[in-house]
Amino acid sequence: MKNKLTLGLVGFGCVGTGLYEVLNKSSLLDAEIKKIVVKTRGKKRLLPEEVFSYEINDILEDEEINTVVELIDDADAAYKIVVAAFKKGKNVISANKKLIAEHLDELILLSRTNNVSFLYEASVCGSIPVIRNLEEYYNNDTLSKVEGICNGTTNYILTQTNYGKDYETALKESQELGFAESDPTLDVDGFDAKFKLLILIKHAFGITETPENIFNYGIRNIKPEDVKYASEKGYRLKLFSRAERSDNQVFGFVAPHFIAEQHPAYNVNNEFNSVVVEALFSDKQLFVGKGAGSHPTASAVLSDVSALSFDYRYEYKKEEGGKGLSFSPDFEVKVYIGSADISQINQFVFTQVDEVYQSASYNYQTGWINFSQLKGVDFNSKKDLFLALLPEDIRLISSTDNEKVSEYETALF
Ligand code: HSE
Repeated sequence: MKNKLTLGLVGFGCVGTGLYEVLNKSSLLDAEIKKIVVKTRGKKRLLPEEVFSYEINDILEDEEINTVVELIDDADAAYKIVVAAFKKGKNVISANKKLIAEHLDELILLSRTNNVSFLYEASVCGSIPVIRNLEEYYNNDTLSKVEGICNGTTNYILTQTNYGKDYETALKESQELGFAESDPTLDVDGFDAKFKLLILIKHAFGITETPENIFNYGIRNIKPEDVKYASEKGYRLKLFSRAERSDNQVFGFVAPHFIAEQHPAYNVNNEFNSVVVEALFSDKQLFVGKGAGSHPTASAVLSDVSALSFDYRYEYKKEEGGKGLSFSPDFEVKVYIGSADISQINQFVFTQVDEVYQSASYNYQTGWINFSQLKGVDFNSKKDLFLALLPEDIRLISSTDNEKVSEYETALF
């Protein structure tokens, strides 16, 4: 039996406007936006000024409104609104990955205590229905890996710079196209991709990680020499969010990756995102779709509205199995480190060196490195150095090896 949904919309930016438009075009849904609350008065918008309210209580105190759709980009303000909405017994739909990543367990508990639903399909990979799939589809198959391109802005920039455009122009375009966050640092330094990874990890493996515990490194320090290395080797650079499970350990991080032609993400360009899900019986599966932009993201919100009309709730079915799992930094990755200044590269202890290139203008080294060593470094702030992973599986290491690297770390950083 379908429920009628009366929505209170908070935020009328790129995604909010998109939701208004797609909802108007979708004749199948019995849902109506009763009120729209925004922050700034007098801004030029799609609808006349009198349609908007500037007071969140106009939604929270309205008993007819049974669902709050939160589409603002201020995660702290969103947190207060979502908590208040739950306490008023309203369902919440959100696209705010930062909010969700920072408060997931608390928000799940609040929604459960207040017997309402909390849905957020649009928060990860825009139009791709990845959360609902992880949640509903893989219960009887052991997931071993979830990885892919989870940020449209960086994929747009990387694609356009490959075509010869400069970084600043490509970033500006991605802002104009409505892909980038208001603070694009969240995109280019890999924070946005990390928030999404954290949400994926919850639905794939049943464990909650804090954002501080997940390594994120973005694309702002890429140099033309690094792009040249990629093209000479037949790779493409992509910002990858990666989570893998081995026995009772889960490994996860965000970093630029050199992607080989055989990888399904190789041809995923511009604002498109892709997620590869690997499971014991089904093997690899690829999801591809637009990961940013007004209508694609709004389509995922619309899908949550539709699911809510059938009383849908995430059940977090992997949580029980996740109890025995822990998040671990005990693995090695194969990396490329490039810099004009060789001393920047020599700071790192490689457990295996594969290739060394030195010249008067640029140097790089490839090989295996203990992830614990990378985790302690703020690579986003290291302008003179670029790090990317090479297309190899991670290598598990023993705790004895790890102790050895910890000694190096203490000495070096
Ligand atoms: N800034 C985000 C991105 C928007 O570029 O992917 C969609 O989450």
